[in-house]
Amino acid sequence: MRHLLEIDDLSSAEVNQILDLATDAPQALAGKGMALIFEKPSARTRNSMEMAVVQLGGHPVYIQGQEVGFDTRETVEDVTRTMACFHSLVGARVFAHSVVERMAALDLVPVVNMLSDAAHPLQALADLLTMRREFGELQGRSVAYVGDANNVARSLALAAGRAGMSFRISSPSGYGFSEVDADRIANAGVTIDIHDRPEDAVAGADAVYADTWTSMGQEAEAEQRRRDFEGFQVDERLMALAVPGAIFLHCLPAHRNEEVTDAVLDGDCSRIWVQAANRMHAARGALAWLAQENG
Ligand code: CP
Ligand code: NVA
Repeated sequence: MRHLLEIDDLSSAEVNQILDLATDAPQALAGKGMALIFEKPSARTRNSMEMAVVQLGGHPVYIQGQEVGFDTRETVEDVTRTMACFHSLVGARVFAHSVVERMAALDLVPVVNMLSDAAHPLQALADLLTMRREFGELQGRSVAYVGDANNVARSLALAAGRAGMSFRISSPSGYGFSEVDADRIANAGVTIDIHDRPEDAVAGADAVYADTWTSMGQEAEAEQRRRDFEGFQVDERLMALAVPGAIFLHCLPAHRNEEVTDAVLDGDCSRIWVQAANRMHAARGALAWLAQENG
């Protein structure tokens, strides 16, 4: 059974198939259900997934994490077995990545990671779709990520590798990729250019990417992080170092004038709303692909 927990679950060819299906998807979920379980809040992921399921002919069921109570009301495995009684696909947004791994390990129903502490593959697929629509062929293009080497950064690095793009990153000391993540990215054949200074990462890049300095679940560290990430804000001065016509991307939600200025978010280089809209198209491609693979 195929699952989608992280981008390296997919080959380069499969990533391309998903991006192609994003624009031309069959009614792969006609008469079928998908459970969407959220342990954390969501605006884009919930709405894009619900609409993608509807567009594929299926029926999405939104479930708040506390309703199923992973490992409190019932074990993760029993929640998954229950969902498999009713649904053809299960998506989960979780704190610990190990939860989606345990769900997938049962091989009862295809599992989609809708964001964990480690990965955000649906976001990375939408990011590739956004850059493909902007640049055409992605091979040889570069994306520079400025900030926390978090779930979004890890999936983006793997996705860039699958698309033949180069990936650069600049993070404050202590906020770079862990050794485990760096090994995983290297094992996927992705070379990362790590730079101490954001200016060096961004210089000559085709796309510049930022995410929040404080991810969901890290709120207690917000003050410390604001201090530690000083100098890592994406502003117009930083954007000017990228190639002329470079685009700015952000998974959103943005913390305006923290990791990125209003001028960049709302400026000509910004593609954040196209990128948000592409979440639905990429989700459609990913779900159609999973339904076909597991059909
Ligand atoms: N980018 C993203 O996943 O947004 P939400 O947290 O609103 O779903
Ligand atoms: N890194 C952020 C992404 C939100 C879409 C988080 O995990 O909260």
